Amino acid sequence: MKTVHTISEVQAAVAALKAEGKRVGFVPTMGNLHGGHLTLVEKAKEACDVVVVSIYVNPLQFGPNEDYDSYPRTMEQDSQLLMDHGVDILFACQTTEIYPEGSENHTHVSVDILDGMHCGKSRPGFFTGIATVVTKLFNIVRPDVAVFGEKDFQQLTIIRKMVRDMCMPVEIIGAAIAREATGLAKSSRNGYLTQEEREVIAPTLHQCLQDARKAIIAGERDYDLLRRNAFAKLAEAGFKPDYFNISSTLTLLPAGAEDQSLVILAAGYLGKARLIDNLAFDL
Ligand code: PAJ
Repeated sequence: MKTVHTISEVQAAVAALKAEGKRVGFVPTMGNLHGGHLTLVEKAKEACDVVVVSIYVNPLQFGPNEDYDSYPRTMEQDSQLLMDHGVDILFACQTTEIYPEGSENHTHVSVDILDGMHCGKSRPGFFTGIATVVTKLFNIVRPDVAVFGEKDFQQLTIIRKMVRDMCMPVEIIGAAIAREATGLAKSSRNGYLTQEEREVIAPTLHQCLQDARKAIIAGERDYDLLRRNAFAKLAEAGFKPDYFNISSTLTLLPAGAEDQSLVILAAGYLGKARLIDNLAFDL
């Protein structure tokens, strides 16, 4: 595995591989890698000849009171994992390379129609920060394919629309959510939880999603009732629920009786962490 730190180095490395006719897969991450990230690497390997992974904790997608400073940075361990999983290039970027003139005055990319709901509502600027850095990374790496996790369903939907709208020459592949045996979705932020929070309380989020799906499949169409039930169950378990929305997978807007393709999106605060999860299914 070749590790590079600058835009010119990664561009030269990818150009050399492309000159050999290799199809290039790309997995952007913020590091502190776990099984979820590694599923994305596997997907990229299946679809491509070579895989580039970026690790960059992007300041533009963190709010002023969020965990940018404390976000876990574990470069040595991450690098070893990527090497063990046959990654070809690790692009370990620096803010001096990505935002040389500072992030505040940088050009922004936003997908407004999908932004003001779910996570975008509680985290203003979050998705603009993501769309901006992902655009930039695509332009730097120029991959044929990029893989994103369904764990961040709204992020994946936004990136798909951005790529479509802006005719970006990259194919987007989604990868299924990797979970712990308890059902808890794997996440770098699970590391903020105590053992009890992680093993006993956090899996309630996934259980609430499954309960709501079961009720919908059984014919329940009072989505507001399902939301209230989930909020009550999450609060009782020890969460401070943020949202629990039953939406159309296409628009992410509240689902109506006519929608057949649904996604339940949920988020809640638990101890020092904010956890998200979702469940997509067809009726
Ligand atoms: P990060 O949270 O590090 O996630 C990187 C990729 O891994 C994302 O596509 C995310 O959806 C995926 N992922 C995380 N946990 C997963 C799980 N349990 N199962 C499947 N996939 C999972 O998402 C970001 O970083 C950033 O916003 C980024 C896209 C890198 C832009 O800064």
